[in-house]
Amino acid sequence: MKDQISRIEKEAREDLSRIDSVDAVEAFRIAYLGKKGRLNDLFKQLGTIPPEEKKAVGAELNRVKLWLESSIEDFRQKAPKTGASKETFDETLPGIRPPQGSVHLLQQTIREISGIFNRMGFETVEGPEIETEFHNFTALNIPLDHPSRDAFDTFYTTHGQLLRSQTSTVQIRVMKERKPPLKIIAPGRVYRPDTVDASHSFMFHQIEGLMVDDRVTFSDLKGVLHLFLRELFGSATKIRFRPHFFPFTEPSVEIDIQWGKGWLEILGAGSVDPNVFKEVGYDASVVRGFAFGLGVERIAMLRHGINDIRHFYENDLRFLRQF
Ligand code: PHE
Repeated sequence: MKDQISRIEKEAREDLSRIDSVDAVEAFRIAYLGKKGRLNDLFKQLGTIPPEEKKAVGAELNRVKLWLESSIEDFRQKAPKTGASKETFDETLPGIRPPQGSVHLLQQTIREISGIFNRMGFETVEGPEIETEFHNFTALNIPLDHPSRDAFDTFYTTHGQLLRSQTSTVQIRVMKERKPPLKIIAPGRVYRPDTVDASHSFMFHQIEGLMVDDRVTFSDLKGVLHLFLRELFGSATKIRFRPHFFPFTEPSVEIDIQWGKGWLEILGAGSVDPNVFKEVGYDASVVRGFAFGLGVERIAMLRHGINDIRHFYENDLRFLRQF
């Protein structure tokens, strides 16, 4: 019986060397390992041989069986799925370059703006997009009957919360958590139920800034924002401060930069209103501060001549690859 086994092994080796397709490997498997295959025949005969030989012959049979199984497996792994195995590998063909992503223009803009403020000592912090009325309105000195609280201007959840309509919420969160002095900026998404068109989106990005200690003045606000705008738009940039109103700053300004023949509004800002300090538990007779907010999309559109805000969100690679 040992002779039979080694004969089968020898023949199998020859058969294997001739196999050239997936079909042939399957035929080979059936011939040797199938129910009526040559190896199974021998396993059946195992019962008829003397007990003292059984162990050695059985081990030999198993060895050949394992070798056949792994040879078949090897062949299947190597064979191309199409069946033909004579295919060759052409190492002179150019490789396939994996697609490489890049940072989205909005994120690039946020990083650039944050970088300017970080270098002036402002720390970047973040806050949640789902907020309370307290953080989005009440603590920011926005009265109950203010139109921005209306459901036409703010998205409310069914659980009495809202999607923040401004990053000013982060001013409140940071002041409630920490004591002055503070110098933070807070980039992030904000939401407003605007009808989408070339210049409006129901979601966009803002960067909030806040500086608080016991000596901050309006001149600091002017100095910091002047420096920021000249870093971002170039040292020749002309800047204009215009009186404005925000409930959470007093006095308030809008800041424009000269653009062609006209002026473009870039920032809202002002000295932190004492009512806001009271809401967060600061002593309004001692602390002073200024805050500002800007729209990221607007700045990116201006700098890169983008005429439709929707380009930012549509994931069109022809647009994204330009930046
Ligand atoms: N939160 C204001 C807005 O969304 C911007 C702002 C922030 C103004 C901080 C003043 C101070 O329009």
